[in-house]
Amino acid sequence: MEKILIKGGKALHGQVEVMGAKNAALGIIPATILAGGYCSIKNVPDISDIRNYISIMEKLGAVVSYSGDRLDIDTTFVDPANAGLIDEEATNMRASYYLLGALLARFGTVRIAFPGGCDIGARPIDFHIEGFQALGATVIGENSDYIEIHADRLIGCNIDFAFASVGATINIMLAAVTAEGETVINNAAREPHVEDIANYLNCCGALITGAGTSQIRITGVKSLHAADYSIVPDQITAGTYMICAAATKGDVTVTRIIPEHLGIIAEKLIQMGCDVLFGDDYVRVIGNRPLKAINLETMPYPGFPTDLQQPMGVLMCLAEGDSIIDENIFENRFRYLEELNKMGAKTRYEGSRAYISGVASLKSDRIHSTDLRAGAAMLIAGLAAEGTTEITDLQHIDRGYDRIVEKLLALGSDIVRINEGQ
Ligand code: UD1
Repeated sequence: MEKILIKGGKALHGQVEVMGAKNAALGIIPATILAGGYCSIKNVPDISDIRNYISIMEKLGAVVSYSGDRLDIDTTFVDPANAGLIDEEATNMRASYYLLGALLARFGTVRIAFPGGCDIGARPIDFHIEGFQALGATVIGENSDYIEIHADRLIGCNIDFAFASVGATINIMLAAVTAEGETVINNAAREPHVEDIANYLNCCGALITGAGTSQIRITGVKSLHAADYSIVPDQITAGTYMICAAATKGDVTVTRIIPEHLGIIAEKLIQMGCDVLFGDDYVRVIGNRPLKAINLETMPYPGFPTDLQQPMGVLMCLAEGDSIIDENIFENRFRYLEELNKMGAKTRYEGSRAYISGVASLKSDRIHSTDLRAGAAMLIAGLAAEGTTEITDLQHIDRGYDRIVEKLLALGSDIVRINEGQ
């Protein structure tokens, strides 16, 4: 079993470059099915979720080459009949749901294993399904194991989401780009990767306007063509390194970022007492004052991202005073607090609200990641704690952070990844 050992208490200093956005890449890779040809995608992060998606695409019939941060993919011979080969991969990740929209739009038929993902509460896909049905598709079968949808033709329509779901917004965009007529998505998700995937589709000949706002208009075109693209930087990874700087009272410049994507994160760190300085494509975070308690609520973009709630929870443990977190997106995203309590944190939660009272310091312990962003929180706790912290269940961290041990080492942390028994 692999684990990470961190001797905490060292302030991080220096520069760290952010990878391409995981969640944009996980939408653009299946979107290449619609391009039906050879695309070269740059800034693709080297993380296990991407490796898994590449395996999915290959099994579906795509020809893929991945080297450095460049993914060359030819989807000419993708065949929806091969979807039976990807049950395991589809069940292990959330973003397999994009195969529904992409395969339905190109072939009029899709049957895949039910999408999985981080265990952070119920994650239904009813908005996706209702959206496909509104476009004229028929659900042939659906249960907890698989889902099958057919459509002789897809016809543009108005879709109003009850909640601004990221996955449903992207899936409906994928399905609607080649539908007949106009589709309007109201209460669309505005996350940076929604806009990035729309930009990629537009490079392939789609006619999408309004992505990044809460109303997206899609004028159907006959078909898309292949195009090359470069993925935007990862908002969540950037935020994670910003929080690492704050937790260790360090001075870290995070490079290759888009400042607008980090506004609310910067605002919260400033409220806690950090200095945050933006340049054109970088942000510098300096943690030179004691941290202050704050209240935080997660919201769809441009609100505070749920994916950084867990890393922020660690900062609150280190702040003076009592903080409150309201988690408004996922129903079960506080289990990581139990790990922090083992380290001397004073936290408790009831339903969607967590209460965190700051302590003078966290003490090292053996802790484990319960999901991807909880894994990031464990790393941050280890960086800040006294003594040597041992973190297991690294498969969660590997899903979403590229070379994170290497990057934290370069910033001056005392961190090592080992195989038990070494
Ligand atoms: C995506 C991201 C994930 C991020 C989340 C919120 C990917 C691959 N994953 O997940 O990292 O944490 O956005 O920013 O991009 N809901 C329904 N019915 C649906 C769809 C969603 O009830 O059909 C609910 C969900 O249970 C959840 C909320 O809506 O409570 C938000 O989910 P959504 O925005 O769809 O998140 P994901 O696409 O799963």
